[in-house]
Order: sequence, then structure tokens, then C-alpha cells
Amino acid sequence: MKIIIHPSQENYLRELRKEKNELLLEMENFAQENKIPILNLQAAEFLEQLIKIHRPKKVLEIGMAIAYSSIRIARALRKKGILYTIEKSKNNIEQANQYIERSGFNEKIKILEGDALDIIPTLEMKFDFIFLDADKEDYEKLFLYSSMILKKGGIIFIDNLLWHGWVASKTVSKPMKKSTQTIRKFNQLFMESDLFDSKIYPIGDGIGVGIKRS
Ligand SMILES: C[S@@+](CC[C@H](N)C(=O)[O-])C[C@H]1O[C@@H](n2cnc3c(N)ncnc32)[C@H](O)[C@@H]1O
Repeated sequence: MKIIIHPSQENYLRELRKEKNELLLEMENFAQENKIPILNLQAAEFLEQLIKIHRPKKVLEIGMAIAYSSIRIARALRKKGILYTIEKSKNNIEQANQYIERSGFNEKIKILEGDALDIIPTLEMKFDFIFLDADKEDYEKLFLYSSMILKKGGIIFIDNLLWHGWVASKTVSKPMKKSTQTIRKFNQLFMESDLFDSKIYPIGDGIGVGIKRS
């Protein structure tokens, strides 16, 4: 893996952290021990801050895993805010359900079980905020689908756009070649989209933030 933020800076920021939520800390350890990819600390904090600033009523998350980011979104939501989250892995859903139960956010988090590519076209509601964090080969289609169900002025937040630094690297190791090409192609599409005011930030593994124009 390539370095995006220098480890000493990452450690410094971790030392300043004042997180008191024991469940989130436990989930971070669980994810690390079981190699479940979840949002990096700074990216998760950035997501929470954006939710607090934008104050969305309806949020859609595509890729819940064990519900780490879901619980972070839920706790940042305003009183009437609700999160719909799509996940296709039965194992992850089982684990997520236990964590959501313990978090006390059962009323705020609604799990939609299945493949987002099948579920999104059936959704009749529109969203104020969409967090895209699914399989990278699905990004292009899921971005297109998301653009159709995001309200004007709504935000799309996309993880992994620096792809561990590979997208910016002249030499890419063989096993990373295909996924790197996929993300590079996606980044072009995202940045050139007329539908969105798009930016990519070097936070976590690279966060795309797009504001829908119309
Ligand atoms: C990177 S993890 C999500 C991490 C989570 N957002 C967090 O930060 O805590 C990606 C998850 O998306 C799920 N996933 C990938 N592609 C999907 C799809 N097309 N539809 C539904 N779930 C998908 C995977 O099963 C996996 O659990």
C-alpha cells in the first residue's frame, strides 16, 4: 500500500482524538482484526462533519459492511433524519445488525438487503445525501444510478478515489492494475460530470464530494 498521509501525521491526529464511543472503538478493532475495509478515521470524521453541516433528511449508503459508517452517519443526523443502507453480504448484515442493536440507532438505520445495482432502480424516494462505498467495478453504474435519485443540491460522498495512492503512481503492481484503471476511469467521469460540482480530497483513501447541480 502506498502512503497518502505520512504515518507520523496520522499518529499525531490519532493522539488528538477524543472519541468516547466505546462501540465505535470496538468496531474499529473488529474490522482491523477481521480485515473488513471500513472508512479510515479522518474520512469517517469528514463524513460526519458534512452530515452535520448539510443536515440531510434522507441519506442513502451503498456498502454498509458491519455498519461502522452507518452508525457514524446515524449519530450525526438531525432528529428526523433517516439512513437507508444497502448491503449484499449476509455475513456482514448479521454482524451489522448486532452492532446497530447495541448502538441504539435501530429507528434511524434501515437496511436494504441485496445488490445495490438491483435495489436502486426500484427505489421511489429521493435522497439529500448519498455515500458510495461499494465494489469499485460497480462505481460507474452506481454513480449514474445515484445521480438519478439525488435531489438538486444533494451531496454524493465517494470513498477510495486515491486507491491507496495507486491512481497517482507511474508504476502499478500487477494485481492492482485492473482496479487502478477502473478508479482512474471513474475519477475522469466524476470530475468531468456536468451534473455535479465535483472535487476529490486527499483524506483517508481519497474522498470525492460532488454537489448535484440540477
Ligand atoms: C468498503 S465496505 C463498506 C464499509 C462501510 N461503508 C464503512 O465504512 O464502515 C464495502 C461493502 O459494500 C458491499 N458491497 C459491494 N458492492 C455492493 C453492491 N453492488 N451492492 C451491495 N453491497 C455491496 C460489500 O459487501 C462490503 O460489505
